[in-house]
Amino acid sequence: MSVVDEVKQKIDIVELIGRYTPLTKSGRTFRGLCPFHSEKRPSFFVYPDQQSWHCFGACNTGGDAFSFIMRKENLDFGEALRLLADRAGVTISAGSEQEAKGKDRLYQANQAAARYFHNLLLNSPAAKKAQQYLERRGVSPPTISSFQLGFSLNSREALKQHLAEQGYTEKELIAGGLIVAVEGGKTRDRFHNHLMFPILDSRERVTGFGARVLDDSLPKYINSPQTPIFDKSGTLYGINIARKAIREQEQAIIVEGYMDAITAHQNGFPNVIASMGTSVTEKQIDIIRKLSRHIAFALDADAAGEEAMLRGVGYENTLGTEVKIILLPEGKDPDEVIKEEPELWQQLVAQAIPVIDYTFNSVTAKLDLSTADDKYQAAHELLRIVDGIKDGTRQDHYLHKLADLTGTSYQKLETALSRMKTDRRAKEPRPRAMERALRPILSNPVEEYCLALLLQHPELKADSKNLSAEYFESSQNREIFAACQRAEDWSSLKEELDDAIHGHFESLVNKSLPATKVDQRWGECTLRLLEQHLRRLESKRTEMLSLEAQSGGSAAELAKLEEQGIETSIQLRNVLSQKSQIRAGVKGGRNSFE
Ligand code: UTP
Ligand code: MN
Repeated sequence: MSVVDEVKQKIDIVELIGRYTPLTKSGRTFRGLCPFHSEKRPSFFVYPDQQSWHCFGACNTGGDAFSFIMRKENLDFGEALRLLADRAGVTISAGSEQEAKGKDRLYQANQAAARYFHNLLLNSPAAKKAQQYLERRGVSPPTISSFQLGFSLNSREALKQHLAEQGYTEKELIAGGLIVAVEGGKTRDRFHNHLMFPILDSRERVTGFGARVLDDSLPKYINSPQTPIFDKSGTLYGINIARKAIREQEQAIIVEGYMDAITAHQNGFPNVIASMGTSVTEKQIDIIRKLSRHIAFALDADAAGEEAMLRGVGYENTLGTEVKIILLPEGKDPDEVIKEEPELWQQLVAQAIPVIDYTFNSVTAKLDLSTADDKYQAAHELLRIVDGIKDGTRQDHYLHKLADLTGTSYQKLETALSRMKTDRRAKEPRPRAMERALRPILSNPVEEYCLALLLQHPELKADSKNLSAEYFESSQNREIFAACQRAEDWSSLKEELDDAIHGHFESLVNKSLPATKVDQRWGECTLRLLEQHLRRLESKRTEMLSLEAQSGGSAAELAKLEEQGIETSIQLRNVLSQKSQIRAGVKGGRNSFE
């Protein structure tokens, strides 16, 4: 078996993705809020049987563990494989003595390259633009020297030649990520005309480089690829310089960018390290943990912050202490804040918010907690977060906070929480009633019968206009129905659909159905569809109503819910009477799809 297959087989995709977004078991799949786009209702699915995931929401895409990690952590395939192999306990290569020697050569080659680039920056006339650039950005000569910043010539093989003269083979330089193989068996330098940021590990070894363009072209940065000595997801930029200060100050501040870290150091904040643009991994946390248990993330108040906070609980559990968020003014990175207003930066650091409080803030910021709906939403989302907190005291603290926020009694929330724990412990957790109403049913005979009829009898298209996509609870079915509504005819329907649901689509197209009385069957099954929809609405509404009544929701809210209930039951009665009329026309029709 190949390493890739082995990793894929050993990785638990539910557990993997669950670290990024809380997942709820839903039949044989798991569901959660899509970690790639911001949404309130979960449209993201994980299929453990197929070891795959799919977002039916804005992303409308899917894949396996590899593509998930590549996208989420901004890694290439090799890097993702490393990371996953590590988690799965699969060794990619044995650590023999010979290999250790090979690695030493790679460290040396990268070290030699760093020296070469640094020297060019300081002395080459070709580096004038780079020098001016650094000056413009306020990077001082002592900083250039302590970070060993450099410059790579605009050449295809300047570095290769230089290192060849020092006895390094092409093979070594490729393995070290310094040159790349191109067509025709040739090679060329990886970095050219870039500002070079050598990346050193805690032991002061040069493991790789970040390289910035000097203009506005893209990509802004290129980095060393995954090599035997460079693993981006396990690296923290500046750790070699920041180590001492992190220990002494008993805190590590994590920023995103190379420039952010450099500016922080130059301005007297030496405990700052950079995650290099990716969301922080457990490997990186492990490195910091050896120095201090206190971590603060400097984050922009956008989606990136939300994502980090989702995992903040995990970090806290790993570290056993509070993780904090340093909230930056909108649209500013630490580099700008520190340069423009160093006192503000100091103030922001001092006011860092514990990650769970931050989570509470950002969940409730988009809600109106005077409404029943939003109270429910807040309780629903935040209880999961609280559930993740391992430390009892801290968990209790936040349970009280949640009770205050939602006006729900502490006891009630505690009961819900212990039920969540019991659910988790059970091998096949029984869904709580509250969640059951939100679950998608992945196989729904009525939905599928309707869709199969529609797909096999395109003449029903006109009539299908009366149906709404929301009648379909299963995301796959809804997706297919929506595609039907969009399409002119059925000829290119399949291409319209994501590959992930082609199998399902085929099964509907090939479903064997009685050929007679199509119109009546259609009439009846669409009524059943509407009936299902109304009943679901009704049960959600009832649940909400009882929750609201218990938690003392406002009279106006309750009245509104009651009123909606009356409306739904009128519609429902209508549907039932139409159904019995039709049934008189089709003998045994009812059983045809049940
Ligand atoms: P930023 O764009 O915030 O970088 O990306 P920066 O360091 O502030 O860059 P300046 O100020 O525009 O010069 C954050 C980090 O994400 C990684 C780099 O590590 C960068 O420092 N990144 C970003 C890449 O690896 N590739 C990219 O194309 C962009
Ligand atoms: Mn920047």
